[in-house]
Amino acid sequence: MSRIVYVNGEYLPEEEAKVSVFDRGFLFADAVYEVTSVLEGKLIAFDGHAVRLQRSCDELGMTNPVSKDELMEIHQELVKRNGVEEGMVYLQLTRGNPGDRDFAYPPEDTKPTLVLFTQTANLLNNPKIEKGMKVISVEDQRWARRDIKTVQLLFPSMAKMMAKAAGVDDAWMVEDGHVTEGSSNNAYIVKDGKIITRNLGNEILHGITRAAVLEYARSAQMEVVERPFTIEEAKQADEAFITSASTFVMPVVEIDGVALGDGKPGKSAARLRELYLEESRKQAV
Ligand code: PDD
Repeated sequence: MSRIVYVNGEYLPEEEAKVSVFDRGFLFADAVYEVTSVLEGKLIAFDGHAVRLQRSCDELGMTNPVSKDELMEIHQELVKRNGVEEGMVYLQLTRGNPGDRDFAYPPEDTKPTLVLFTQTANLLNNPKIEKGMKVISVEDQRWARRDIKTVQLLFPSMAKMMAKAAGVDDAWMVEDGHVTEGSSNNAYIVKDGKIITRNLGNEILHGITRAAVLEYARSAQMEVVERPFTIEEAKQADEAFITSASTFVMPVVEIDGVALGDGKPGKSAARLRELYLEESRKQAV
């Protein structure tokens, strides 16, 4: 079935939606994006995603053509028009189409390109929740501003392919011996009851799910330590997990062929997933 997608103020069948070949998103990856999950037809953590989108724009001097309220309306309208009960809304905002290829940014009055589309997915009953994910480590070869959610995703795609070639689910990226994050998620280990995850900085994306999960963990008296951890430390951990908008909290049971703990999904990940789903459903819009 053809989807209805949003392009610059219009709701169109996907076959009719068009973006210029001169668009800077296409030519320079001069674009930012957000992925917001949908459960029971409602948006999860919308506010956080809208705030981060604005931050990405501010960091890049990019114009955001819509207010937070308008953005919510577009998300909700797309969810409704496509009858999405469970899945995601993908948003991409580019610096627009200056009519030619030029490294310099176009004049400030160039109209940005805003595209949104929905994806239907089985987020709650993902089979990986029962079995847990296996990951390999790869050297982090991305640029240095990973805190900005840009569409420069070629290295994460390469990392995903390395994981596939190794017969596992994902790759954890490592810089100077320390884990930065997963190919499209934040990474955590648990040791002696402490939840350890890399502190915020330019090295990682400031995950919206991460912020919520850490808040709920602290409210539930679970100890959280935000600091870099090495890949060797991760292999000695009792358990591990990832977070993202599309996976919520997902257990990791193996790193580079080394089984963690008893090799089964851990209790902390299960508890945090439960807490996250419970709390974020209450705030869904
Ligand atoms: N990825 N780190 C990276 C590199 C990511 O790409 C993502 C999200 C996250 C988690 O952020 P959040 O909790 O806000 O989803 C961390 C999205 C889901 C994607 O690219 O599809």
